[in-house]
Amino acid sequence: MVTATGEPWHYLDTAATAQKPQAVIDAMARALGEDYATVHRGVYSRSAEMTLGYEAARRRVADFVGAKGENEIVLVRGATEAINLVAQSWGGANLGEGDRIVLSTLEHHSNIVPWQMLAERTGAEIDVCPLTEDHRIDLGALEAMLGPRTKLVALAHVSNVLGSVLDARAAADLAHSVGAKLLLDGCQAAPRMALDMTALDCDFYAFSGHKLYGPTGIGVLWAREELLEAMPPWQGGGAMIDKVDFGGTTYAPPPQRFEAGTPMITEVIALHAAIDYVDAVGPERLFAHETALAKQLRGALRSLNSVTLFGPEDSAGIVSFAMKGVHPHDLGTILDEEDVAIRAGHHCAQPLMEHLGVPATARASFGLYSDESDIEALMRGIERTQRIFG
Ligand SMILES: Cc1ncc(COP(=O)(O)O)c(C=O)c1O
Repeated sequence: MVTATGEPWHYLDTAATAQKPQAVIDAMARALGEDYATVHRGVYSRSAEMTLGYEAARRRVADFVGAKGENEIVLVRGATEAINLVAQSWGGANLGEGDRIVLSTLEHHSNIVPWQMLAERTGAEIDVCPLTEDHRIDLGALEAMLGPRTKLVALAHVSNVLGSVLDARAAADLAHSVGAKLLLDGCQAAPRMALDMTALDCDFYAFSGHKLYGPTGIGVLWAREELLEAMPPWQGGGAMIDKVDFGGTTYAPPPQRFEAGTPMITEVIALHAAIDYVDAVGPERLFAHETALAKQLRGALRSLNSVTLFGPEDSAGIVSFAMKGVHPHDLGTILDEEDVAIRAGHHCAQPLMEHLGVPATARASFGLYSDESDIEALMRGIERTQRIFG
């Protein structure tokens, strides 16, 4: 990858957010410029066309995730909002005192805090599923901790720190065996894996557009239509109503019931372009490309005595590690001088850091534009860091 001024740049932070293909930038610029108008309300032709584009994007998302139909797609601002929506709407209506929510040790704060807030409100309790030795969610332990009071299991499909891939179908079967619902946090899976909601058999699936080569400010909640039908609205305002009257208001059917206010018009159009782009590359090819790079990087890091590697061998394009005697922030700063961009920190997964026994890790994550030259540059930077720190 090169910067706008043509210098080489080794971007290894795609798990935080992906760089955008020109097709996405162009789609967003067109939507903001010559095509711009509101949706769902205007009687003039440009608004009608924008509405068609907006709803075409919803259908494209439905097709991309293997949904039964576009009514299962709620367009939100990001994965964080999608999970909060489920917690507040479905959780508020279905959980009570003594009910249990199962999370895992490796969850992103976005898939912890909304459930803690819900638990506080309803009196529900949270159980934490541990990890295996090689840092996967331990499905044996999950099975043992499920019970008749378990109402929800909420797990990352792919860990943003470790790249561990969940056997999501097995998790769904386990959750359903006790009548619980399964929410998958697909933030890191959606940009890396082919998705099929029927095959996964989960109940809720959340992801963000900006990690999928689209813009920030747009995300997706997929949910089974019958669940959405039964869920109360969570935010009130325009666009989510059927009829407003001071005597009482009635609501629109889903997904509009969950999309109050003027939506993220240009972001949705750009998300459509991003999905077209990713589909043209092919999610299976992307997965193979990134796992091969992760394997290569793990091999190179393993040859250094000073490095501790986290996560499983077959991690999905995300590699976390620690260097003895070097804080990840120092490593990140030195690497930046070499035009290598990694992430250093707790990655919004403080309980996982606690489990790994480190305050932070260095994380390299790959995208469709990554190649071996990025690994070579990273290794050169690490060797230089070793020389600096003696
Ligand atoms: C696994 C996972 N879940 C949730 C999120 C939250 O995504 P966003 O901040 O786009 O809402 C992230 C982002 O880093 C993530 O990696």
